[in-house]
Amino acid sequence: MRIGVLTAGGDAPGLNAAIRAIGEMALRDGHEVIGIANGWAGLVGDFQGTALTANELRGVIGQGGTLLGTARFNLDKPAGGRECVLAAIEEHLDALVAIGGDGTHRISSWLAERGAPVVGVPKTLDNDLPGTDYCIGFDTAISIVAESLDRLHTTAASHHRVIVVETMGRSTGWVAALGGLAGGADLIVIPEFPVTMDEIVEHINRRRSAGLVYSIIVVAEGINLAILGGVETEELSNEGVGGVRHATRGVGHFVAAKIEEQGGFEVRTTVLGHLQRGGSPTAHDRIFATRVGAAAYEAVIAEEFGMIPVIRGDDVVLAPLATVAVGQRKVPREIYDLCAVFF
Ligand code: F6P
Repeated sequence: MRIGVLTAGGDAPGLNAAIRAIGEMALRDGHEVIGIANGWAGLVGDFQGTALTANELRGVIGQGGTLLGTARFNLDKPAGGRECVLAAIEEHLDALVAIGGDGTHRISSWLAERGAPVVGVPKTLDNDLPGTDYCIGFDTAISIVAESLDRLHTTAASHHRVIVVETMGRSTGWVAALGGLAGGADLIVIPEFPVTMDEIVEHINRRRSAGLVYSIIVVAEGINLAILGGVETEELSNEGVGGVRHATRGVGHFVAAKIEEQGGFEVRTTVLGHLQRGGSPTAHDRIFATRVGAAAYEAVIAEEFGMIPVIRGDDVVLAPLATVAVGQRKVPREIYDLCAVFF
């Protein structure tokens, strides 16, 4: 079989571990593995697939990024991109494993509905694909957030300052909530459970009255600015062209300026940005990516197309691609309440 593999959307630590699992298992069984360059872009226009060798797959489990390259590529602008991808799969491949997040799997699912032999792998640093308890990259991201908060605590405490830390998380607050919980954040603000500026300032005041002269406030980049007294951007997007990227709205700086203005505190801001996506994956991400990569390969061999291996509890199970392609998995009240115990 000629098995294509691509990574689409934002990169995440652990992608190479998944590519390695699929590739090494396929080569072991005598199949050809075609690495598609730069996500869907590699299947539009000239075919950008090359056969991967065992040598290229060796030693990559601990490497961040993706050896295939990736891109935020909009197949609908201009129209006709999806049809090009369908035709390229038909002409060049017997199966395709698409590793990506919600945008990627909206396409994978559309292709599978039209009979294309596609299997998915769940990846998004935001960890909010519906239908799976875990996505490649998340554990590394929250480990980086936790380590950053440890570091910021000591300087915040020394200077008696408030530090606002902005994390990734476009539509949901998984990175902020669990990274913040692990790093001992003093308040976490996420899209699922909005708070007002008055509530934020009151909280810092309460801490000060209790003798706590510093505070670390973690905010997810996707929180709604209008609720905080700002002006919300109409069109938000990270997929392909058009729209305003969430990070450019500057919610961290906005909240910091408001705290200074309303509370009279000395405030600093740290935007963690792409540090959360760079570098070596944690052991957890390597193992998870290997498990879902292996399961995706087995689904291809069993011709279980239109499916994606997901994590439910401790198990890897196959689910229809369509189930991860719509909406987001939100942080549940129970997790947010646990974070709030330590505010
Ligand atoms: O979707 C994952 C994510 O890391 C978001 O948290 C973030 O908003 C976005 O990607 C950033 O994307 P880009 O690297 O294209 O700016």
